Amino acid sequence: MPFGSGGPQTALPCIFFFGGREPTLAAIRSAILTIAVSEANARLKEEVRAFWQAHPCGTKFADAEPGTRRFYELVEKHRYDGEWHIPAAAGFADTRGSLVLEIGCGLGTDGAQFAKAGAEYTGVDLTEAAIELARRRFELFNLPGHFQTADAERLEFADETFDVVYSHGVLHHTPDPETAVSEIHRVLKRGGRIRLPGFTRGKRPGPSSRPSVKCGSRLTFSTSVGCR
Ligand SMILES: C[S@@+](CC[C@H](N)C(=O)[O-])C[C@H]1O[C@@H](n2cnc3c(N)ncnc32)[C@H](O)[C@@H]1O
Repeated sequence: MPFGSGGPQTALPCIFFFGGREPTLAAIRSAILTIAVSEANARLKEEVRAFWQAHPCGTKFADAEPGTRRFYELVEKHRYDGEWHIPAAAGFADTRGSLVLEIGCGLGTDGAQFAKAGAEYTGVDLTEAAIELARRRFELFNLPGHFQTADAERLEFADETFDVVYSHGVLHHTPDPETAVSEIHRVLKRGGRIRLPGFTRGKRPGPSSRPSVKCGSRLTFSTSVGCR
């Protein structure tokens, strides 16, 4: 029995789906798998979104009312005291005049450092909670920046828009990181830079030591820096 012989109503979408050709069993299996994976990813992404919407990242480190000056100061102190490698890995200082996109900007703590360094900064996050708190931070500290809720896997920017794309602690939360990386590549200008700092478990090195790039669980400094 030919595929789609259940009448025109079922045959038509199938013909469109398989490009007008009669599909092989392998093609049908692969299509069903693709649909199942994308539905599972959509459910997982909703769980990720709901979690970060209810617990904006980093708020638990500040014993002050969210949205107040004191709150942002405590969040920032906690961040760079603990994750001392971030300023060097993110390269805030060398972004003056660059168009910087941050994916998963959270409370806008790193975003503020880009803006202070003179970058033209855009922060996106999956949740409204993060975007509201990051925007509030920029207003309170009188910093320029653009914000929007967005999904790393489907960015609404044109190809080759940004000089630098930065993301910290985000891509392992999204259900399809490969698609997110393709999107980063797409929106990055030719010759642009990708900065994806990792986490650290090591102690801050002394003043004479240089950051070392090591892989594995005893990470002392980790950064992925790429060029397009
Ligand atoms: C661990 S927090 C990191 C926040 C910030 N980058 C930092 O280092 O403090 C993860 C953030 O990624 C955001 N996020 C998760 N999946 C995302 C996606 N697909 N697109 C955009 N943002 C996402 C979450 O809403 C959350 O704000």
